Amino acid sequence: MNKKETVVIGFVGTKLDNYRGASRWDKWRPSIALTQQPDLTVGRFELLYNGSVDNLISQVTDDIASVSPETQVVPHALEMADAWDFEEVYGALFDFAKRYPFDPDKEDYWIHITTGTHVVQICMFLLTEARFFPGRLIQTSPPRAPASNTLGSYTLIDLDLSRYDQIAQRFSREQLEGIAFLKSGIATRNAAFNTMIEEIERVAIRSRAPMLLMGPTGAGKSFLARRVYELKKARHQVAGRFVELNCATLHGDGAASTLFGHIKGAFTGAAADRPGLLRSAHKGLLFLDEIGELGADEQAMLLKAVEEKRFLPLGSDHEVHSEFQLIAGTNRDLAQDVAAGRFREDLYARINLWTYALPGLRERQEDIEPNLDYLLAQFGEENGQMVRFNREARTRFMRFARAPDALWTGNFRDLWASVTRMATLAQSGRITEAIVDDEIARLQRLWRPRAGRGADGDVALDDLLGEEAASRLDLFDALQLQAVVGVCRRSKSLSDAGRKLFGVSRDAKTKPNDADRLKKYLARFGLSWDRLSGELSPDR
Ligand SMILES: Nc1ncnc2c1ncn2[C@@H]1O[C@H](COP(=O)(O)OP(=O)(O)O)[C@@H](O)[C@H]1O
Ligand SMILES: [Mg+2]
Repeated sequence: MNKKETVVIGFVGTKLDNYRGASRWDKWRPSIALTQQPDLTVGRFELLYNGSVDNLISQVTDDIASVSPETQVVPHALEMADAWDFEEVYGALFDFAKRYPFDPDKEDYWIHITTGTHVVQICMFLLTEARFFPGRLIQTSPPRAPASNTLGSYTLIDLDLSRYDQIAQRFSREQLEGIAFLKSGIATRNAAFNTMIEEIERVAIRSRAPMLLMGPTGAGKSFLARRVYELKKARHQVAGRFVELNCATLHGDGAASTLFGHIKGAFTGAAADRPGLLRSAHKGLLFLDEIGELGADEQAMLLKAVEEKRFLPLGSDHEVHSEFQLIAGTNRDLAQDVAAGRFREDLYARINLWTYALPGLRERQEDIEPNLDYLLAQFGEENGQMVRFNREARTRFMRFARAPDALWTGNFRDLWASVTRMATLAQSGRITEAIVDDEIARLQRLWRPRAGRGADGDVALDDLLGEEAASRLDLFDALQLQAVVGVCRRSKSLSDAGRKLFGVSRDAKTKPNDADRLKKYLARFGLSWDRLSGELSPDR
């Protein structure tokens, strides 16, 4: 097999290579010295230069020919207006690398870095590291004692070799730390969940684009949003605050003002300027939980604010500026809301970029135990007492926790509550079988399907009608009523809700008075429009 030809790619040194007269042979000239090394044979030297340096190039070419006749020198002019501008230099070198007919099977490439313009050196390094220059770095340095020789020394640097691997390993260690941080150090075992968290880590560190966290209540959306913020902060990605709002708590006039602020006198009761949460989140992170509950006007304003980083506070003629990163949370299917006309398609498109569906506890049963241990340890820390399960008690609890009738409807919130109860009742830090049995019974009661109890995101009829009245409804009626109340809550007026609910028969003009129809339907359950529109959404 023929030995591969060695090709050096290097920038001419406008200072160090540029000595004139006979005394130039007493100087260390990096490009020439590289071809003079007794143990190196350079077959070709791709000599890059910039600007009008023809004399320099011909002298270097001639000098290399005289000291190393086997080296062919090929000059390449690179266009760059300013050799101190990173973008210019990187761009010119990048274009050169793209054009150059690399043939790594036949040739070895050494990318020459040395003293000289650091911008060039850094760009050479970056392009080699990213494999746009498919070769090794060759670093040359001046002779230690200037008088001793003019050859200096060189080091070959293979960025793929172990020594540099350690640098790469440090990066991956940092990444692992980031992932562990997002999971609060809980050694989760669910593969899909772990893959998702790994990606979120990468996105959190590199992107300022919106993120959408979906998942049932208690799946950890709010928790993760805050962790993402803290990770970004630790990596200097955000300077501002973490601002959090559950959109389900917004109602009427106050909604827009809470988000976008208002000026004094914007409406009755606006006694002073209010900055609004978007502005409070300037250069920070805004977490809008239950974004599906946002009203139509607020959705439109939010879209503009996300896209243009500007918005109008209520009553103001002057737009204000805020750069915030948005994380949205939802336990509803926003795509379905878009299809049903309840959520703006353009806003959905804007936030549906990094979308993650957090699984509920039942979808990641293998993670119940590590989370249980985490919560126990946390309880111990907060209360100054270590709490442990008896062995049999633990087995019993875990068997139940993974059984099909363990619904974990509130997910981690239920697990947290359960651990808190058991740990509190544990005498001298021991959770016994008796405590576990009681707890299992309590959880079973909690999860017993009842007509009045809404599933995730549903209207809780218990709160609306009272537990007693709700329990007397057939499941069929309860489900219908929940859906109807849901539409009412998302509507501006009784007529608006009526139009939505009876749209089909209205168009067919069979029963035109849909507001009246709705009013009568609600009255059957002792409910009125005023009551529904004034109600706060239930917040578990
Ligand atoms: N990765 C996690 N590590 C520790 N605790 C968590 C984690 N995820 C969620 N929790 C806890 O579970 C509970 C519910 O989480 P939360 O983020 O409020 O859920 P969601 O916003 O999806 O309803 C909170 O008490 C939270 O502290
Ligand atoms: Mg939440």
